[in-house]
Amino acid sequence: MDAPIIELLNVSKTYSTAAGDFPALRDINLTVHKGEFLGVVGKSGAGKSTLLNMINGVDELTTGETLVHSNGRRVSVHHLTENEKALWRGKTMGVVYQSFQLLPMLTLVENITLPMDLAGAFKPRESRQRALELLRLVEIEEHADKLPALVSGGQQQRVAIARALANDPEIIVADEPTGSLDSVTADHIFDVFSRLASERGKTIVMVTHDMGLKNRVTRCLTLVDGELQPETGADSKPKRSRRK
Ligand SMILES: Nc1ncnc2c1ncn2[C@@H]1O[C@H](COP(=O)(O)OP(=O)(O)O)[C@@H](O)[C@H]1O
Ligand SMILES: [Mg+2]
Repeated sequence: MDAPIIELLNVSKTYSTAAGDFPALRDINLTVHKGEFLGVVGKSGAGKSTLLNMINGVDELTTGETLVHSNGRRVSVHHLTENEKALWRGKTMGVVYQSFQLLPMLTLVENITLPMDLAGAFKPRESRQRALELLRLVEIEEHADKLPALVSGGQQQRVAIARALANDPEIIVADEPTGSLDSVTADHIFDVFSRLASERGKTIVMVTHDMGLKNRVTRCLTLVDGELQPETGADSKPKRSRRK
């Protein structure tokens, strides 16, 4: 079996609200192995987005620890400073946010070159070329020079996916990345993710309320009211990614 790349150790997250404390995640223990395409399904409000924010360090955890092993480094995510975290995330992890988070004043292609230019991994001319290739991969290249407001939600979602791949990260975490896509485009995106895992050894964690995900990933877990359900039967052993 491949080495662990993401480990959540007794992770809990409680939101403090005016109405009191709300436990959104309860004592999560999860190991994700390199090259896995892990799906996490759960109803709206189950804690899926919160779980991803515990992995990518976008939000603080309440108790526990998140470890990420990548680029020969073992990082305890929540022990990094904000600056260290931003730098580390940019190099390690591509994040597809549920609400896309494209920058409105940049064109689609600029939204993808920006993280590359910040990480400094590609020369400016290379970064534009690579951004266009990524837009082609998600089938939206013809709109490259438009602003996000001029394309549909589904098209923005595809740009958000392309942006997550910009720095060729080892890990991709995606929050309902097919939620705004028609079924044909969603299928295509699943194939892109499957191939990134099976052919390029990328590790993918995708959360969704779409139970149809189960057949397309190498392992599928269920989140109910902030708790990961025990793994059963064939699902419990990570399989190698299947080529589609
Ligand atoms: N910033 C927040 N403050 C208070 N409660 C929150 C916050 N974010 C999420 N929650 C609550 O935590 C629960 C899990 O939310 P979330 O992780 O967004 O679920 P999902 O992504 O599965 O729909 C929900 O009940 C939600 O209302
Ligand atoms: Mg969510």
